[in-house]
Amino acid sequence: MPTEQELEQFLATASAAALEAGKLQKERLWGDFAIDFKGDIDLVTEVDRACEELIISRLAAAFPGHGFLAEEEGAKRSDSRYKWIIDPLDGTTNFAHGFPWFCVSIALEFQGELAVGVIYHCMMDELFTACKGGGAFLNGRPIRVSTRTPLRRALVATGFPYDVARDNENNFANFFELQLAARGVRRAGAAALDLAYVAAGRLDGYWEVKLKPWDVAAGTLLVLEAGGRVTNQEGAGYTVYDHRILASNGGIHDEMLEALKRAGSAR
Ligand code: IPD
Ligand code: CA
Ligand code: CA
Repeated sequence: MPTEQELEQFLATASAAALEAGKLQKERLWGDFAIDFKGDIDLVTEVDRACEELIISRLAAAFPGHGFLAEEEGAKRSDSRYKWIIDPLDGTTNFAHGFPWFCVSIALEFQGELAVGVIYHCMMDELFTACKGGGAFLNGRPIRVSTRTPLRRALVATGFPYDVARDNENNFANFFELQLAARGVRRAGAAALDLAYVAAGRLDGYWEVKLKPWDVAAGTLLVLEAGGRVTNQEGAGYTVYDHRILASNGGIHDEMLEALKRAGSAR
């Protein structure tokens, strides 16, 4: 792992880039911007692309030689020990519709291990940050996962993949089981913010299928550093390159696993 001082420097630069990109998102929301289609319901706006360019240019200027894995541009300099994993605008469908629920997500991996995570929700001016081993913070104040149990009293969240209408692995059976077992299930449309909210104790759990590393990298580190648990949906070790994530406050994790198992047998 890099030294504490180095981590602080990475975190400061990523935070500044996230704030700058968030400012741009806030200025452009509810205005005119071009929208392209990546799939039949999978959008990308010119603001997604502008934010990604901005973030990569700031990070590349500060840390020449570091690698990148970014949603719109893909991988660059993949032989570096450092890899910035970037979702310039998580919640693009919301953004394109003027639904103000989206964020910037930036993580740094060092030799395959999550080292830094930053999520910025510009509409609430909330910056969630974490460094490996250093705890998790919201606007500089420490955050912890909730202590709420059992699942019946918990508020959890999920989302659905863009190929929901074409593939059987569409998360509906899971949604059904969790909606029956929990106090409530939210589906707000920004995976990174769902994870940040688990870290901050505003949600008690979160699961989803078919996410990409840029959706989950920063949020996974935030949940772990806030004292939560992150596994795959069989309860085994999870990496951001895996297919199915389950993140929680720890206390409701096993009950969520059981609900997902029930859904699996119903699939
Ligand atoms: C999406 C959001 C959404 C999740 C999708 C993601 P995007 O990311 O995180 O909540 O359900 O699976 O692809 O496209 O808005 O960056
Ligand atoms: Ca995303
Ligand atoms: Ca995105």
